[in-house]
Amino acid sequence: MKIAIAGKGGCGKTFIAAVIAKWFLLKEYSVLAIDADPAPNLALALGMDPGEAMQIVPVSENEDLIREKTETDFPGVYQLSFRVDDIVSRYAVITPSGVPILIMGTIHEAGSGCMCQANTVVRNLLSHLISERDEVVILDMEAGVEHLGRGTLSRVDLMLVVTDANSRALHITEKIVRLAANSGIKRSDIVGNKIKSPEEERKIRALAELIKVPVVGIIPYDFDIEAAGIADSPVYNLHETRAVKEISEIAEKIHKITDFNQNSRD
Ligand SMILES: Nc1ncnc2c1ncn2[C@@H]1O[C@H](COP(=O)(O)OP(=O)(O)OP(=O)(O)O)[C@@H](O)[C@H]1O
Ligand SMILES: [Mg+2]
Repeated sequence: MKIAIAGKGGCGKTFIAAVIAKWFLLKEYSVLAIDADPAPNLALALGMDPGEAMQIVPVSENEDLIREKTETDFPGVYQLSFRVDDIVSRYAVITPSGVPILIMGTIHEAGSGCMCQANTVVRNLLSHLISERDEVVILDMEAGVEHLGRGTLSRVDLMLVVTDANSRALHITEKIVRLAANSGIKRSDIVGNKIKSPEEERKIRALAELIKVPVVGIIPYDFDIEAAGIADSPVYNLHETRAVKEISEIAEKIHKITDFNQNSRD
């Protein structure tokens, strides 16, 4: 089961990714969280100390690994095909939540020049994570839409598109849903987040109806989550807050609606 979480900047992707990852772990699935945002902070949401999180070298910046895999010093002719399955066991880090995380780093457009080798490693690794792993893989994506045309995500089972009721966020949601469909992603669902009124919920449901995409959940604006953000404290374990309860219900629905295969259970 591979779930990608996309949406406008600041709409709550990382928060939701952390809570869903922890939910599947508590259900005794083997889980892998992937931070695919060039400004990574999923490790913090999963309880890691900021100082410790800063020590993690993202895959795309790990020059020794890239040199080893592509068999070259940069720049130069390099190997395009190599094993990547060992990268998870070597570089994923267990967060205090118990969820292992792999930090990808910046992924450049194909052919954009600099760091082609790093790109090749990251793209091969992403394809492997999405197509070949048995874990429940939760991908916390970069904000916006630009990265979605790369094709690496086509094997994702479910794209959660997170949005608040802001019209800019809704506009981006519409674009993401279209791009996800064009790139072959089987299913996109909308998640409303930071919802403060029935009117905001109606705006999101109206868009969903217009673009014919299900709404898998509506998460309220929650001052406990805002406070956790201000205090830089982890969010995955705030089980009693309204927002986390709603995300748990979303995880439950995802678990039911997708043809979850028992191989994901460790
Ligand atoms: N339902 C909610 N109620 C209140 N605050 C929330 C809620 N969801 C998220 N937040 C807060 O909003 C801020 C942004 O959330 P988060 O970092 O998860 O968003 P993001 O989409 O990952 O952002 P970015 O695009 O920068 O990666 C955080 O401080 C988070 O605590
Ligand atoms: Mg984020």
